[in-house]
Amino acid sequence: MSSFKQIVELIADDLTAVEAKLTEQTASEYSFVDMAVQHVVEGGGKRLRPILVVLSAKVCGYEGSDAHTLAAVVELIHVASLVHDDVLDEAAIRRGRETLQTKWGNKVAVLVGDYLHARVLSMLVARRADDPAMAILADTTQAMCEGEVIHAYKSGDFDISEDEYLKIISFKTGKLIAASCTLGAHLGTTDKQRLEALTTYGQQIGTAFQIVDDVLDFTEDTDKLGKNTFGDLREGKLTFPIIYARSVCNDNEKQTLEKVLNPNTDEAEAIAFVEALFQRYGVEAHCLKVAQNYADRAKAALTVLPEIPARVALEQLADYVVSRES
Ligand code: FPP
Ligand code: MG
Repeated sequence: MSSFKQIVELIADDLTAVEAKLTEQTASEYSFVDMAVQHVVEGGGKRLRPILVVLSAKVCGYEGSDAHTLAAVVELIHVASLVHDDVLDEAAIRRGRETLQTKWGNKVAVLVGDYLHARVLSMLVARRADDPAMAILADTTQAMCEGEVIHAYKSGDFDISEDEYLKIISFKTGKLIAASCTLGAHLGTTDKQRLEALTTYGQQIGTAFQIVDDVLDFTEDTDKLGKNTFGDLREGKLTFPIIYARSVCNDNEKQTLEKVLNPNTDEAEAIAFVEALFQRYGVEAHCLKVAQNYADRAKAALTVLPEIPARVALEQLADYVVSRES
């Protein structure tokens, strides 16, 4: 059995409770609203962020049901952000299903994203007023938006630096993954060292996760990934593998690369050029090595926590983020 499956099995009861929370908390009495909302809420996905909330709570000694509420909250923020991201990216498929805007148009997609945020606020308000979750998630959502705005603003900038890009992904992806860990940890501890350890862990695997996400866009097939591959390339989006390839290739290749990133270039020609370039410079292996370094840093941060099954699961999860194929 894969380590990811083992982790899921270890916390199967918790994940069942999270799914029930997700369905119960997003139901609408209006049938079309309900259909559109459930289309994305039930739409599969790895539930990585809920897993992180539950494991982070457990590793800090908490076993109660509030972890399920917070796990559902972070997953809903994630789903809402993907619904909006797919509008921005004009993506056709997500989690193996048609995206909302493909099925029902941009208006429905934007509004379903907003609806999910409204549900998140409602769930948070219903919790204890002295809980740090509200502030953490407000900061996180703000950073995610800032990351996406900067990314959109920089989308035409062929010279974006690796550091600038790493900052963007630490905002758009890393913040919510880190918040998932911090929120879980807060349920079980007030110890600053442990809280910081789990936040650092989340931030590091978040960056690893997005680098691997960028790689899979070029290397995996659409069926396995549940979304169209070469989507980033087709959009002319500069992601980690392209930024690395640009930094190591020669001037001629660099010029061609800039040209093929123009969405008007013939798609087959663009893919063939980039695949050959990646092969020539070992781009996939390099990116996975960088991602593994982040995963290793994440694991190193956990050493202040007790060596119980939840910690082992978090360590395995860090490696899974890099070795995953979807
Ligand atoms: C996927 O990136 C998108 C994100 C990680 C974040 C999206 C954030 C927003 C749209 C900001 C608004 C968010 C909230 C919470 C209001 P990707 O396009 O690289 O990955 P993909 O290939 O899975 O689409
Ligand atoms: Mg996208």
